[in-house]
Amino acid sequence: MALVAPSMLSADFLHLEQDVEMVNTYADLFHLDVMDGTFVPNISFGFPVIDAIASKARKPLDVHLMIVEPWKYIERVARTGAAMVSFHLEAAGERTSETLALARSCGMKAGLVINPDIPVEKLFPYLEEVDFILIMSVFAGFGGQKFIPESLGRIVTLRTEIRRRGLDIPIEVDGGVSPSNAADLKQAGASILVAGSSVFKAPDPAAAIAAMQA
Ligand code: DX5
Ligand code: ZN
Repeated sequence: MALVAPSMLSADFLHLEQDVEMVNTYADLFHLDVMDGTFVPNISFGFPVIDAIASKARKPLDVHLMIVEPWKYIERVARTGAAMVSFHLEAAGERTSETLALARSCGMKAGLVINPDIPVEKLFPYLEEVDFILIMSVFAGFGGQKFIPESLGRIVTLRTEIRRRGLDIPIEVDGGVSPSNAADLKQAGASILVAGSSVFKAPDPAAAIAAMQA
């Protein structure tokens, strides 16, 4: 079993309410990708879109910040009503602990993200301070990229360390996730699957979600 979090970056923005309703009906979380054009070479959407989705969402919001200086926007994310927020270790640097604590103090679950070129061991100092970890299985910045297979081993390494410490920290995975690799990802230790194109470009999004949840 896994939770499926459709990435709204791949939704149809001309018919957003329909896609929000589809997620409400079939999926578990709304994954919302915020890109600033500086931390990643792309710009997505910001608070007007998140607030609009929040007004119709009946499943929790999971906001993934791909921005520099993420601490500046944590409180604003909380005001959308988001249940979960994550930001990149590469972006927060020395201010990682402080930013995690800020997210928690705003009442959200705090998640730390790393891109595929960051050793998972860099997360270890923060394991007692996070509510979840997000492992990127593509380089953050664009939907529709190909899954990087080495991500599986990275999830196993992380899960092993989490268990060794007797912790219970969900591992979320994001990028190129589809029904064809969902079983391997769950086996490796992921329990939240982010999926953009494999849901919204599927002929039957509900079936794609069910296949990944099962
Ligand atoms: C990539 C985003 C992802 C992306 C996933 O930077 O963080 O959430 O939208 O899209 P797919 O599932 O198409 O790779
Ligand atoms: Zn994402």
